[in-house]
Amino acid sequence: MPTTIRSFAKINLGLAIGPARADGFHLLTTLYQTIGAYDLVTIQARPAAGTSITLTSNDERVPLDDRNTAFKSVKLALDAKKIAAEVHIYIDKRLPVQGGLGAGSANAVAALIGLERELSAHGIAPFSGPERLRIAAAVGSDVPLFLIGGAVLGVGRGEEVYPMPDLPVTPCVIALPEIGVSTPQAFREWDARYFPPFPQTTREGWGTRAGAGLTEGAGSDRLEELSRALAAALCEPHSSGVFQEDLAAKTGSPANLVAGANPLHALVRTGIENDFEEVVFPKNPLFGEIKRVLAGPEDPEAAALYVSLSGSGSALFGLYGTPDGARAAVARLDGMGVRSVMTETMPRERYWRSLIVE
Ligand code: C5P
Repeated sequence: MPTTIRSFAKINLGLAIGPARADGFHLLTTLYQTIGAYDLVTIQARPAAGTSITLTSNDERVPLDDRNTAFKSVKLALDAKKIAAEVHIYIDKRLPVQGGLGAGSANAVAALIGLERELSAHGIAPFSGPERLRIAAAVGSDVPLFLIGGAVLGVGRGEEVYPMPDLPVTPCVIALPEIGVSTPQAFREWDARYFPPFPQTTREGWGTRAGAGLTEGAGSDRLEELSRALAAALCEPHSSGVFQEDLAAKTGSPANLVAGANPLHALVRTGIENDFEEVVFPKNPLFGEIKRVLAGPEDPEAAALYVSLSGSGSALFGLYGTPDGARAAVARLDGMGVRSVMTETMPRERYWRSLIVE
């Protein structure tokens, strides 16, 4: 029996880019959040005398060879297990290819999970959690997050992941402009802006944002700033009240857990941003326009809680207080001829519960 897995996408709630490492990858800090929009990945696998991996898809833009992330994760998994198998993967593509939604990366995890389930029917033991994370990281920087799901802190080159407390289910609209963005190119442009090759005129301002001040090892300050914002915001439902006498009285200090408090509001207040916007937006005025349209009117009932580019784009997303707010954003995007998908954020429990198509 083949196994079919929902391969959910992600958005980034803040993304700070740091300096490039010796291997060319950039240090970064981001909060990934899985969402309800998905591709379907179907796997059929059985032990065989020699390994053969075949891949088909309904979308001709999906590579069908070892450039495909799902192909790579299956190959790495079979190598790690030192077994040969006949594997067929079918990817029913519903999400955009290279949209900043991690769709290809999620496909890799779906294929890995599907493979393990298929092989377990033949008595082959699944991987340990850490081994699975190692294989995912070998496939790509934003692959391991899909082995955690929900709200996930990503550091290192994005592959070092930590489960964060879940945010409440929040209506989400993904805008899909028909513009391609190359992630390596976006990183190169970031470097050209903030880390121009030595020699530089002066060391002041080197590796920093204009006017942000200085120094050696600069660039990492962006990462630290976002880490502090994330930690403080995600803790706020518990901590708020301790620092304010009046709020303490209202919430019953010192056990002042604010019932129903949404850390997303604290995240937005703290000012989470996606650094990629700085290099991606100037290239095409449509991005700025979509961001404004997603944000919506001033009316706090209808306005988005938060709007941002996802990853390096080209997808942008808006988060809304109500499904009606999200529906209105879809209508506004329709009006300007931009395709969109309405979905919602997907907490960890729901992510794992919905992964397998029974
Ligand atoms: O890891 P992944 O294959 O998704 O990365 C694609 C490309 O994006 C890398 O080859 C690299 O050029 C760039 N990248 C980077 N720093 C990261 C992640 C990706 O420079 N943290």
